[in-house]
Amino acid sequence: MKKEIMVSAPSNIALIKYMGKWDQGLNLATNSSLSWTLNHLRSFVRLSQPTDSNRDEWRLLPGYEPMELSGTGREKFLNHVKRLKAHFGLGAQTFLVESANDFPSDCGLASSASSFAALTKAFYSWVLGEELSQEQIVEMAFLSKQGSGSSVRSFLHPWCLWHTAKHPDKKGEEKIQPLLSAHFNDLLHAVVVVSGQVKSVSSSQAHRRVTSSLVFGGRVERAEQRLQEMIGAIAIGDWQSLRNIAWEEFWDMHGLFVTSRPSFSYMTPLSLKVLDFFQEAWELQNDGPIVTMDAGPNVHLLYRLEQKELAERQLKELNKSPLKILTDARIKL
Ligand code: PMV
Repeated sequence: MKKEIMVSAPSNIALIKYMGKWDQGLNLATNSSLSWTLNHLRSFVRLSQPTDSNRDEWRLLPGYEPMELSGTGREKFLNHVKRLKAHFGLGAQTFLVESANDFPSDCGLASSASSFAALTKAFYSWVLGEELSQEQIVEMAFLSKQGSGSSVRSFLHPWCLWHTAKHPDKKGEEKIQPLLSAHFNDLLHAVVVVSGQVKSVSSSQAHRRVTSSLVFGGRVERAEQRLQEMIGAIAIGDWQSLRNIAWEEFWDMHGLFVTSRPSFSYMTPLSLKVLDFFQEAWELQNDGPIVTMDAGPNVHLLYRLEQKELAERQLKELNKSPLKILTDARIKL
């Protein structure tokens, strides 16, 4: 029977951002980052070997959300297939990679973390089967990182800490680890989709351009300090601090974007309105969701489980055209 395997991997949202690289090719981050794994936003990959083709191919996996892969997107994906084949000595074999997401691709959510994680997982599963040791999972995550940096954090949950190397010559220092705490191990996630348009500045370009900002000096120290403070806040269950550090941190990243030379921005008037809505509510109640933004105009929210009613209320209020809100199944709009 024809061999075929199917795997899936989650996306993740960073609260301490990976922005700036020591090494563009290896995706060696200039600072460590911390993310929450988004188990309800997943990419699926089916791997098989067509008998009628002599080159690797990508196709949309039927049965999921429709999406298009741009020319460069397809090339990046197939280059990663090449890397994985070389890793496993499968260079002479030809693969068909079918992939798709269970979230709409017209909502401007970066799917590169989940799709590269799923592709890497597919080859591991093809060669080594489903049961992997902890060492193999970490090795797999770092191979995935070569395709998309942020995908390295899609292999651990619920929190993934990606420690970078302190210096470009010390790549061996890099590591990932789950963050273990008695607090905040189950959160509700929603994203306010302000725009679904394809970004005019890709995240790879953003990583390059931020280093031209005069405030990039000090960025590594700021991110590392916030990371330590955030780990401390999670350890003692301090939601207010966690929320405030996350707020500062995404503004820091977006500040790098606007102060880059030349300047660029993902913020839209609608993003600012949504941010204002949550900031005002926070100031009034001294409670609310963690708010963060990726390299895009959409606003991500993380609520504690006991804030479910607050989440439903706030999101209902915001759920007016032209906004679309994507939530995990536990939030009802
Ligand atoms: O993985 P990349 O190269 O697409 O980098 C994306 C980095 C951000 O999403 C902007 C921040 C992060 O830490 O995920």
